[in-house]
Amino acid sequence: MMKILGIETSCDECAAAVVEDGRRVLSNVINTQIPFHAAYNGVVPEIASRKHIEWIQAVVQEALDKAGLDSDGIDAVAATNRPGLLGALLVGLNFGKAFAWAKKIPFIAVDHMLAHLYASRLDISSDVPPDYPFLGLLVSGGHSIICRADSFDSISVIGATIDDAAGEAFDKVSKHYGFGYPGGAVIDTLAKSGNPGAFHFPLPNLSGKNPCDLSYSGLKTAVIHQLEQFRTGGASIGTDPLNPADIAASFQKTAIEILLRGLYSAVEKTGIKTIVAGGGVAANSLLRSSLAQRRDLRCIFPPLELCGDNGAMIAGIGYRYLRRGESSPLTVTASARVEGFKRKLHEE
Ligand code: KG4
Ligand code: ZN
Repeated sequence: MMKILGIETSCDECAAAVVEDGRRVLSNVINTQIPFHAAYNGVVPEIASRKHIEWIQAVVQEALDKAGLDSDGIDAVAATNRPGLLGALLVGLNFGKAFAWAKKIPFIAVDHMLAHLYASRLDISSDVPPDYPFLGLLVSGGHSIICRADSFDSISVIGATIDDAAGEAFDKVSKHYGFGYPGGAVIDTLAKSGNPGAFHFPLPNLSGKNPCDLSYSGLKTAVIHQLEQFRTGGASIGTDPLNPADIAASFQKTAIEILLRGLYSAVEKTGIKTIVAGGGVAANSLLRSSLAQRRDLRCIFPPLELCGDNGAMIAGIGYRYLRRGESSPLTVTASARVEGFKRKLHEE
């Protein structure tokens, strides 16, 4: 039995968890900074770093307490070191390194996006984990990637956004309409009482380009333009004729259609029929219900609480590296980006 402490501070969640043998979540503490960033309608990097510095020790302590362990009960430490906000990453990375050094236990630096892809493996209620290769649908606030996964740490990008990430589109639309921050969960909830057919927003024209790619800037612009039309027409939010729920439902319908179109193109291109989703947008109810209807595909989602950023996915994937006899030197540093995750525009 191996108990790994996982630490995640790449963005605005200060999170730590203890996971046994890469599957059983013993504790999963997620302290969100959202209230501190909400006034700015986005994550303020300096505030994020400072809050992580203030909170990290208490969050790790809580994760140990909830797992019923003290620091001696931990066999290894894993922490996110890429990609993310550099100043935020450094807090969890360095705390994790110091913990491992003090306890003379192995340390593993983890890629945040690979960890999102691993998150569904932590669902012990699910039956057999999917066989490789499978298609990965990695959709978060900073990335939108459709990939082929050949192992837990080997993915090749099949399609990616050529402009905004999926979660970013939800956040930006929400910001413009004043729905709240972050936008994903707010729009998802609002959309439930709206009419998805109320507005017709355009799908991106990817003809002649990679059909597995995604694009959100056109949709975002069209939805925001709709607001301008309401403004010049003298309407205000919350009164007729602008019904926020209709905007949310119509936007969400198109946003998810864009994702599904890219994903189904990847299914066609590769013939792979198993899909594993991860990242904050994987919590989207329309995405989940739409994919559930495709009986010909096996679609695996993490439980809702493991879609967004958390320490359990970090501890989980950390275990896989250790099982392979790998760990990181304590000189390992952080990186804001990961090469190869953002498809270059000129690439086909
Ligand atoms: O994975 P995550 O927690 O952080 C990053 O690594 O970026 O993803 C956060 C993103 C945000 O853009 C948020 O608006 C979006 O995930 N999100 C959602 C939903 N819940 C969170 N997007 C659509 N529908 C949701 N239910
Ligand atoms: Zn994330």
